[in-house]
Amino acid sequence: MNQKKIILNESEMPTQWYNVIPDIPNGLQPPLDPETKQPISPEKLAAVFPMGLLEQEMSPNRFIDIPQEVLDIYKIWRPTPLVRAENLERALGTKAKIFFKNEGVSPSGSHKTNSAVAQAYYNKKEGIKRLSTETGAGQWGSALSFATHKFGLECKVYMVRVSFDQKPYRKSMMNTYGAEIVASPSPDTAFGRQILEQYPDTAGSLGIAISEALEDAATRDDTKYALGSVLNHVILHQSIIGLEAKKQMEIAGEYPDVVVGCCGGGSNFAGIMTPFLTDKLEGKNIRFVGVEPASCPTLTRGKLAYDFGDVAKMTPLLYMYTLGHDFIPPGIHAGGLRYHGMSPIVSALVRENLIDPVSVHQLECFEAGRLFAQTEGIIPAPETCHAIRGVITEATKDLNDPKTILFNFSGHGLLDLSSYDNFFAGKLHNYDYPEEAIAEATKNLPQM
Ligand SMILES: Cc1ncc(COP(=O)(O)O)c(C=O)c1O
Repeated sequence: MNQKKIILNESEMPTQWYNVIPDIPNGLQPPLDPETKQPISPEKLAAVFPMGLLEQEMSPNRFIDIPQEVLDIYKIWRPTPLVRAENLERALGTKAKIFFKNEGVSPSGSHKTNSAVAQAYYNKKEGIKRLSTETGAGQWGSALSFATHKFGLECKVYMVRVSFDQKPYRKSMMNTYGAEIVASPSPDTAFGRQILEQYPDTAGSLGIAISEALEDAATRDDTKYALGSVLNHVILHQSIIGLEAKKQMEIAGEYPDVVVGCCGGGSNFAGIMTPFLTDKLEGKNIRFVGVEPASCPTLTRGKLAYDFGDVAKMTPLLYMYTLGHDFIPPGIHAGGLRYHGMSPIVSALVRENLIDPVSVHQLECFEAGRLFAQTEGIIPAPETCHAIRGVITEATKDLNDPKTILFNFSGHGLLDLSSYDNFFAGKLHNYDYPEEAIAEATKNLPQM
């Protein structure tokens, strides 16, 4: 079949999300209360999350219905196209078949909208008036700004300083959707003021921005907190990517040998690969490759341990690969991949050797992004460039054994063009991360 794009009808859009938790061999370790080191109670988490999402966080059910109100908004851009990247294949001189799931067609430009709409819906349903959140690249903040506006909620976004400065038009986008944005660390929270006093010139980090957004939610009755990755319910919402892709690959008459995605907190990669996991567990020969930045090598060089999800130690302890909660990664241009931890679900799948993690440097990623733009026409987000770099390796490593490769095109880079400009001007650098720095970063892990 020679079709370039496989497009599903709206009536073929999945009406249930897939929950991978019951299928993870040897299960997930529960989140712990940092005070007691015992599994945290839902009541404690209910201070910052609505019950609808907490139920999903711990659900033993394989499939969960997507509410009609969420489906109605998904229809603005879903189902997303599955595209054969044959121009890229030709440019690489490979017989490998490369397919990408284009999540960049969402209103805010990335997969993040899949979870933002669901999270805004469950908060609205429980009478919440306002959401606070962090954003790294600006993609999650834009997605939540769009979704909160759809449900008539207010939204406050703490945007990591380095991205705030690199991506001014992300602010414009969030303002257009009606959200309030501040650079993090900010003077708006006690924790932000403390960090600013200690490190006035800090680039910020996702861990700091999460602490600020959590403090915001914990100190206001009308506000709850929304996280754009890492947590089980986010990965549940993102499963729609893989569920659609599976149907589309079937229509194309193909099945992937390899599924590739970039890994920040793990949500877009888990979203595309988890619906294929049961096939692997039943003996199908399929590999899952998660690509992370060498400057923030959580899966390839971090420790599997209980750690906090934020710098101020406000979150429960999550069992995950981590570089230490106070790790502040270099200011690379893939802001969405600058996170010290990894989702417990992706971490457990790496622990079980069901995912192959790899790390790549940012210059080779921008090079891959430029090739993709010149061949397939779409300019990828810097995060997505990491996935493309991983795909190029898979497609060219053995030209005598061409594979069928599926990857998640997690977002477009039209609001990241200043990063491309810096790349073309030779102003970007790779960051090596010495062993001593990793030891230093992980020495403050909580004692269990
Ligand atoms: C376009 C894009 N891709 C990937 C990511 C990484 O996040 P996750 O690993 O949760 O998908 C981000 C995060 O901001 C992003 O904006």
